[in-house]
Amino acid sequence: MTKSRIAAVDVGNDAVKANFGKLESSLYIPNVIARDLEDRPVIGIEELDEKDPLDNLHIRVHSPALRENNAIYRVGNLATKTTNSTELDPGSYKSEEDQTLIMLFASLALDAVSGRETPPSKGNVIESSYTLGTGLPLREVKEGKDVGYRSQLLGSVHQVEFLVTPKYQGIKVNLKFDEVKVYPEGFAAYVNLVMDNDLNVINKDLIDKQILIQDIGGLSTDIAVIRNRNVDDDKAQGFNLGVSESLEMIRDEILTKHGVELDSRRDVVDIITRKNDRHHIMVRGSRTNVHDITDRILLELAKKQYRYLRNVWQKNSQSEICYFVGGGSAVLKDYIKTLNNKLDGYNIEFFEDENESIWMMANAYYKLVADFIRKTEVQSKKEKQKAASSK
Ligand SMILES: Nc1ncnc2c1ncn2[C@@H]1O[C@H](COP(=O)(O)OP(=O)(O)OP(=O)(O)O)[C@@H](O)[C@H]1O
Ligand SMILES: [Mg+2]
Repeated sequence: MTKSRIAAVDVGNDAVKANFGKLESSLYIPNVIARDLEDRPVIGIEELDEKDPLDNLHIRVHSPALRENNAIYRVGNLATKTTNSTELDPGSYKSEEDQTLIMLFASLALDAVSGRETPPSKGNVIESSYTLGTGLPLREVKEGKDVGYRSQLLGSVHQVEFLVTPKYQGIKVNLKFDEVKVYPEGFAAYVNLVMDNDLNVINKDLIDKQILIQDIGGLSTDIAVIRNRNVDDDKAQGFNLGVSESLEMIRDEILTKHGVELDSRRDVVDIITRKNDRHHIMVRGSRTNVHDITDRILLELAKKQYRYLRNVWQKNSQSEICYFVGGGSAVLKDYIKTLNNKLDGYNIEFFEDENESIWMMANAYYKLVADFIRKTEVQSKKEKQKAASSK
């Protein structure tokens, strides 16, 4: 039997964040897929193998859990280059979209083939089993969607076949789950705030307070209300607005006004968050200020986000603090802080390190699933001792 490996995977609308094993490896993959109707032409293998697999994920996925079984996909960066790529639609259910599973399986398969001492060769079938910690939006957990999501993962073997992917072409990975834990996203953020990797409480001050967690993602914003060490399901609110749309608007305006086409939203993020030369771009070799564009669009979004906060705080007046997490919070930090100083002066907190913001969920799932494993091990040890002593 193959030994089970920990996988803690946050399938965000904007990007998948995943932690593996003893935290020795992690993956960040943009949540974009594109259906391929037939095999992509195989380019010279030597040329292909010089490329990064992560930028050239091309797979066929076989799983009874999928609506569309055996379909071929480009995943992540490779998919962003096609015209028929799909990103998750904000109104949809994460738990019911093939895209969620495709991203999950792709990240696990990539983990299974990489980091091996001897790289597998073409035609190999790799058997891998995982103990998975992942999450769904509170809204879906409230509706009980986590139950079906979990059982379809547990119920069968899922197979990812690497097609025109450097280094791994022709390799198949069979994915099995020994255990699947599905946590509500807001609760996970709370766990990450108050506990360390061994689930020791690191923030005694916080643990019994009523707190809000505003997670500004790529396509959505969720505000969780934590009370009595638990998420208050009835109070949590989700909004179908994240930061991606604004980043796209900034990109458009820079193109219209300056004739400069930035490659991606990620470039926009870099322009507005970097330490040096923030809000500047090069236009035909001249350093050019784009602060007017970025400021107007981000301030607009920050105001909307601030309204969400107000709205939820009004309904939960005894909250003591609100933490801002998610990549959107990193982008909007200064704007929201300034608004708050001018307006209501809520007790709000951001993370210094934007990576902490972005990896919040994946890190929390890791803590939770690692703790689950420890507890099961202790339990089974006890049972063995009991069995031995009663002989
Ligand atoms: N290092 C970074 N600094 C600032 N912003 C970033 C950084 N990396 C990504 N972003 C931006 O933050 C946004 C949200 O990222 P995040 O990973 O939190 O979203 P998500 O969890 O995938 O989406 P959702 O929460 O809607 O499901 C993205 O639009 C992304 O461009
Ligand atoms: Mg998120």
